[in-house]
Amino acid sequence: MQFRDLKRQYDTLKPQIDEAISRVFDEGCFISGAQVGELESMLSKYAGMKHCISCASGTDAIRLALMAYGIGSGDAVFVPDFTFFATAEMPAALGATPVFVDVSAETFNIDPNMLEMAVRYTERAGKLRPRAVIAADLFGQCADYESISEIAERHSLLVIEDAAQSFGGRIGKKRACSFGDIAATSFFPSKPLGCYGDGGAVFTNDDEAAALIRSYAVHGKGADKYDNERIGLNSRLDTIQAAVLQIKLDAFEKHELEDINDLASRYTEKLKDYVITPVVSEGYYSSWAQYTIRLKNKEQRCLLQKSLKDMGIPTMIYYPRGLHRQGAFAGMPNHGRFPITDRLCDTVLSLPIHPYMTESEVEKVAESVISCITA
Ligand SMILES: Cc1ncc(COP(=O)(O)O)c(C=O)c1O
Repeated sequence: MQFRDLKRQYDTLKPQIDEAISRVFDEGCFISGAQVGELESMLSKYAGMKHCISCASGTDAIRLALMAYGIGSGDAVFVPDFTFFATAEMPAALGATPVFVDVSAETFNIDPNMLEMAVRYTERAGKLRPRAVIAADLFGQCADYESISEIAERHSLLVIEDAAQSFGGRIGKKRACSFGDIAATSFFPSKPLGCYGDGGAVFTNDDEAAALIRSYAVHGKGADKYDNERIGLNSRLDTIQAAVLQIKLDAFEKHELEDINDLASRYTEKLKDYVITPVVSEGYYSSWAQYTIRLKNKEQRCLLQKSLKDMGIPTMIYYPRGLHRQGAFAGMPNHGRFPITDRLCDTVLSLPIHPYMTESEVEKVAESVISCITA
């Protein structure tokens, strides 16, 4: 069994994907081919946003969003402690200071009460200028943008949605990639919408930010490619990836998102009396980048992970340590403790899930978990 079986997805979509890729070869336009613009239009329509600017990765998408607003040295950027490294790496790479904020044990997302405390602490300390919050939509569920935006408004913070894991997720009818001032997503192969390499995109309704991002993504270009107005990056989504994503977006919309939600519900139904199953908040819809259960303690998780491995069932620990424990951030000013993140890091376990998994495979994994837990 695969943790996220991309080969099975390819086998299903092979005729369309092969045709789309061979069209790129026939046309010979490997960078900035027509498919890139077409995909951007499809994605902006899907997310309900005026602009979608594709780029080379989800990491670059965060970086470009920060660059568009001139975030850098002396700025505090609030980030959840429990997330992938890139959420905090990009503000730090631009010279800003990531300020870690503990998360909610239920949703795994940034805790708005803790955010308020961190912002106030930073304001009182007076060393950094609070500038932005990057809320990551962990495991497919959007963060609590209503509360986050309210705090951001009171403290004049920019809200950046890190939607790397939540493409297709929603709050009510509003889709991921449309929250806050600007959003960044990833098309890493195992993401809800993934390509066959690295890729990402930025979404915004802000015309000025969109124009700046288009420039920063191509060496700070001005009127043309050889007119360089600012220092930028080389960060483009190539035409082959765009062509693959066009096909995959269609399958994602037609059935994949619904299928993965059915499988997640089945897991929860089977497992809810044995382990702590993931909570989807009222009115929210997840895109299930991960199906993450919680165990009693580290020992129980370790035993379960080993037993499942012996049965041929792969699992992952997202994440084994909070950002405040990463060596790269040693010495960063830290205002507090992170008890929820620390506990999650010891107790979470992500089970295999993807839209092409069968119901009987989900049953098998769930029954194996139950038999280990009750042994
Ligand atoms: C929350 C989060 N942010 C950012 C990224 C970075 O995306 P990429 O790998 O496309 O650079 C990831 C990827 O794992 C992620 O999970």
